[in-house]
Amino acid sequence: MTRRAWWRDAVFYQIYPRSFADSNGDGVGDLPGIIAHLDHLRGSPASLGVDAIWLSPFYQSPMADFGYDVTDHCAVDPLFGTLDDFDRLLTEAHRRGLRMIVDLVPNHTSDLHPWFRESRSSRTNPKRDWYVWRDAHRDGDAPPNNWLAAFGGGWPAWTKDLETGAWYLHSFLPSQPDLNWENPAVEAAIHDVMRFWLRRGVDGFRIDAVHKLGKAPDLRDNHGSFTGAVVGDRGLRFDEDWPTVHGRLARMRAVAREFGDRVLVGEVYILDPERLAAYLRSGRGLDLAHNFSFLRLPWRGAAFAHAVSAFEGLVGRQGWPAWCLNNHDHSRVATRYASERAARVAAMLVLTLRGTPFLYQGEELGLEDGVIPPERVVDVEGRDPERCPIPWVDPAIAGVGAGFTSGRPGLPLPPDAGVRNVATETADPASVLALYRHLLAVRTGTPALKAGAFESISSEGDVFAYRRRLGHESIAVYLNFGSGEVPLRGRGSVLASTLMAGDPGTVDGSFELGPVSGLVVKEQ
Ligand code: GLC
Repeated sequence: MTRRAWWRDAVFYQIYPRSFADSNGDGVGDLPGIIAHLDHLRGSPASLGVDAIWLSPFYQSPMADFGYDVTDHCAVDPLFGTLDDFDRLLTEAHRRGLRMIVDLVPNHTSDLHPWFRESRSSRTNPKRDWYVWRDAHRDGDAPPNNWLAAFGGGWPAWTKDLETGAWYLHSFLPSQPDLNWENPAVEAAIHDVMRFWLRRGVDGFRIDAVHKLGKAPDLRDNHGSFTGAVVGDRGLRFDEDWPTVHGRLARMRAVAREFGDRVLVGEVYILDPERLAAYLRSGRGLDLAHNFSFLRLPWRGAAFAHAVSAFEGLVGRQGWPAWCLNNHDHSRVATRYASERAARVAAMLVLTLRGTPFLYQGEELGLEDGVIPPERVVDVEGRDPERCPIPWVDPAIAGVGAGFTSGRPGLPLPPDAGVRNVATETADPASVLALYRHLLAVRTGTPALKAGAFESISSEGDVFAYRRRLGHESIAVYLNFGSGEVPLRGRGSVLASTLMAGDPGTVDGSFELGPVSGLVVKEQ
């Protein structure tokens, strides 16, 4: 029997370094800050109990896209610390039994990266072909094709460069030129970046903007115009998801394999479940690809049930989903559904489905998006609200920095930091944090929740109910999305209730499930 891959049983926790914890009082989170707060994640009795960290970029960057615009893939930006700090963080994480994967940003660099500086300097520079350069469209002084950038709500994905009068491609900001993946030297350079971090001991990568690594080599026009991810447009786009991407991922896998049991998680921003499922090629490409469907669903049980069943049907028993409710690019779940009760039900969902859950820092506190006054906006795409700092302590006790910083936080604190902070919620047995800790403990102690098969029990109306089964163990999960009580039937001991109100007891035959709440039942 082959050993079950570690990442199938793991719960990941995304750390966005700017906003997690600041150690030096400059108002921006950093690597030593993370080290100082690792106990929150694992290793102490009050820990959340997650298994792995995904660390968002901490590389040298001018921060036009807060680290997703890299000038040196193998250096730590001084804002976040040093390479020694990174090594210490990895050692401390491993010491606690936490794995750590880091972001890999292979599709583009900063325009200030030495590679791009060289590339733009002349048409004959040896690095010219490391990026995607074209002359203007034959009709005149216009972009070479009709591709649009994912940012800016409809900007062309091309900018004319004054140095040589040619246009360069950028799938995101103009300051993030796309690397030319048709050039084997580029691919080799990214492989070297991977080896650099693998050698230091990272447990794998979250690969940024994977779908953009394959583009039609003739750069033909899209049929229609697209901004961002579009459902059901197969065959019409030529600026992403081109079949060459799979060979590139297979070669990345080969690099990872040089170092053993490492995981490759892709940000495949494709909402069509069939196309997304095609990226799951464990052993030959990606092990996991984030499924972003939950981030766009209305608060209806049937909608969630449909998204889960559709993907389960596509990936089959061998494929392994990666569910998430938020990340640093999307409004937080408590804000999206304007309800803490909904956030609790959503937590029970992601932590009991078949697949690897990815939590985003702060969701375990039920944080809402911050409110950013116009003069404090820093992100060009309006993503500051979900990137507000983690409140560790009630600001009435710790001051304006809320234990995040001894200075003034770079972004405002999220709403209700006086109650939604780590210290206050740790002391409250019914808090959202207590629920997350409990659900994680239940998951860890229940093999069927980790590895069991998924089977839908009910997917109609307001209720999404399903069963996870492994051997003789059978776990039923009942989630009521609606605002009324619903009558249900079941038998067994209640392992968790979203309300966290005292001893959850048993269900025996008919029972009522309250509005916007959920139960996990060990069936007898
Ligand atoms: C990914 C990242 C996002 C970034 C973009 C460009 O979508 O999650 O934060 O802005 O790639 O690198």
